[in-house]
Amino acid sequence: MDKKIDKIKEEIKCYHMKTYDDLETFRIKFLGKKKGVLTILFQELKKISLHKRKIFGKIINDLKKEVQKKIFNYKNDITNEKIIKYDPTIPGKSIKIGSIHPLSIIQNRMIDIFIKIGFTYVDGTEIEDDWHNFTALNIPIYHPSRDMQDTFFLQKNPDILLRTHTSSVQIRYMKKHRPPFRVLSIGKVYRNETISSHSNFMFHQAEGFYIDKKVSFSDLKQTIHYLITSFFGKARIRFRPSYFPFTEPSAEVDIYYNSGWLEIMGCGMIDPKVLKNVDIDSEIYSGFAFGLGIERLSLIIYNIKDIRMYFDNDVRFLRQFKSEF
Ligand code: DAH
Repeated sequence: MDKKIDKIKEEIKCYHMKTYDDLETFRIKFLGKKKGVLTILFQELKKISLHKRKIFGKIINDLKKEVQKKIFNYKNDITNEKIIKYDPTIPGKSIKIGSIHPLSIIQNRMIDIFIKIGFTYVDGTEIEDDWHNFTALNIPIYHPSRDMQDTFFLQKNPDILLRTHTSSVQIRYMKKHRPPFRVLSIGKVYRNETISSHSNFMFHQAEGFYIDKKVSFSDLKQTIHYLITSFFGKARIRFRPSYFPFTEPSAEVDIYYNSGWLEIMGCGMIDPKVLKNVDIDSEIYSGFAFGLGIERLSLIIYNIKDIRMYFDNDVRFLRQFKSEF
């Protein structure tokens, strides 16, 4: 009898439970009304002498308390969620998967729009040299953007800098490829400007250019029109004559928004001097180019007041944006 008791004691002690079902199996195994291990022992007590019955009665009672204690403790554990109860009807825990950054949404959309009309997407480099960023684009040596106050130079003589615009991609691409081509590139550009709600030391630009025989200003206008209507459906835009060293003629495009005109891009016909710098014969080929501020466009699309919100990394702001608009 002693050995049997020890075995049962050991079994109770080591019994491992994970779920409510385990708990119930455990209870029935030891305290089940008919076949419970302890229930049977209690019944057997009747058959032994009074003296022994008292001794064993106490031992079996202690075992019963042991079982009850274990059940009580495990129930607590389960409610404390230490033991996982499997209930297929409980809704699953949702996994937070993040969302696409609003500026990336616009970039992706823009790539889609231009791929449709035969443009190729290329990436540029954010670190540039003077030639690609300024000289080859016909930006004169005295131009203010070449000033230390306006450009982040990483090195002087030879000048290495953080590109101030994506127009440098034009030079890189045109050096390597022969026309005809239609190219779109989007990325970060850097300017040494005071940070205000409407500017930042870094922002995103989209650069597009198209070179072929007989490309004219009307192709440029039509392409910009296509871009704007793809984004906004109907919108009022205007072309305002402007000046850029790398285009002739040049224009700026404004969009009518919040009862005023907001400038969103610069554009023009690529200056023959730029084509010469990349060995493209301007007697045979002509082309247009444009550079568009992604943040500016996004202000209109999302009605955002402060561009810096894009870079604060506040998830409460960022998770509001959906891929489709
Ligand atoms: N690079 C100009 C800027 O950053 C924008 C621009 C204007 C790009 C006219 C162009 C262009 O390609 O043709 O302000």
